[in-house]
Amino acid sequence: GGIFTYDPGYLSTASSSSGITFIDGDKGILLYRGYPIEQLAEKCDFLEVCFLLMNGELPNGAQKKSFDNTVTGHTMVHEQLARFYTGFRRDAHPMAVMIGVVGALSAFYHDAMDISDAAHRELSAFRLIAKLPTITAMAYKYNIGQPFVYPRNDLNYAQNFMHMMFATPAEEYKPNPVLARALDRILILHADHEQNASTSTVRLAGSSGANPFACISAGIACLWGPAHGGANEACLNMLEEIGDDSRIGEYIARAKDKDDPFRLSGFGHRVYRNFDPRATLMRETCHEVLDELGLHDDRLFKLALKLEKIALEDEYFIERKLYPNVDFYSGIVQRALGIPASMFTAIFTMARTVGWIAQWSEMISDPEYKIGRPRQLYTGAVTRDVVPIASRK
Ligand code: CMC
Repeated sequence: GGIFTYDPGYLSTASSSSGITFIDGDKGILLYRGYPIEQLAEKCDFLEVCFLLMNGELPNGAQKKSFDNTVTGHTMVHEQLARFYTGFRRDAHPMAVMIGVVGALSAFYHDAMDISDAAHRELSAFRLIAKLPTITAMAYKYNIGQPFVYPRNDLNYAQNFMHMMFATPAEEYKPNPVLARALDRILILHADHEQNASTSTVRLAGSSGANPFACISAGIACLWGPAHGGANEACLNMLEEIGDDSRIGEYIARAKDKDDPFRLSGFGHRVYRNFDPRATLMRETCHEVLDELGLHDDRLFKLALKLEKIALEDEYFIERKLYPNVDFYSGIVQRALGIPASMFTAIFTMARTVGWIAQWSEMISDPEYKIGRPRQLYTGAVTRDVVPIASRK
């Protein structure tokens, strides 16, 4: 009984109220706690943005120092967690590993499982933000068969991640500030995005009172899909597959063909119907990185620019307001940094963890939060009687 609104895909349903992120999809505006993404990307580092998302205000100098120190105090993972990796096939997709390992953190932190205690919630948030780079880099090292590299707390967040990815027992990692800044910017641009599918998943999982590590693991599972966080990997694979300017027309035609399930990866967005402000910043970062590395002639970057231009001039994409999204360029940046495509979605995970945990904390500390329990339109059989098995057709 009762009257429900039927809204598959939540096209017109607000699932929650939130004071964290604001998007105006028609104007191409993205704000974290009221600050434009362009200013945050230019003036702040990722941990400042984490502080902002979690606490509502930017930190002052002393707060920033203390926040950074707390994060670096939690970057190590227990040696038993390291052994957890060895249960996976060595060629396991990093996202499969992340779902398992982050979920397994639930079993390591019984000291802070009372979600009604704000101090416990904060400790879990610090643990997640601090350990995600370590866990992500370990998934990569496991894939390539190299020993895990311990975090270095004298480096900043992005540099430390690159150190754990690229250092080997034979060779130290020397941070390149331009490249580390580019990674930091990727993290800032992916840190939160209001009630997207994975964040809604984290909220729904959390609404039952489940522990934050289990909830974030649920978010990672959702992020993995090619319509969401998997788009950056899919986009780079698509560019590789197109391979040459001469084949762009063929792929555009396929994307427009309603009998072909193929879509241009990195194009389109549920909320942005003008442009994705993150894509503009990412394109800029892409130029900076390719300049720094002397890769102005990068084959895939040129191909991406050309594909973007052709799509933006095509009636099909114009009518449907389809623009490049953040993931159209983030893959090219990461590839230039030496990161393989299979790791792109894991790095998105590392960045979005702060958004997930900030949204989870916001929900849990709201005295009015309820378990998320959608209704349905039932379309199954009407009431009928069970007949004895011998009489069934
Ligand atoms: N290529 C070709 N056609 C497209 C594309 C695309 N990338 N995206 C949307 N369309 C068409 C779609 O076929 C539909 O056409 P029609 O009206 O003729 O049926 C119309 O545009 C509207 O699309 P929709 O699927 O109803 O829109 P949605 O809001 O449900 O989906 C989306 C949004 C992002 C899932 C979709 O645009 C898409 O699949 N894009 C490719 C994957 C991608 O890049 N995802 C990353 C999103 S940004 C990063 C993140 O937040 O995860």
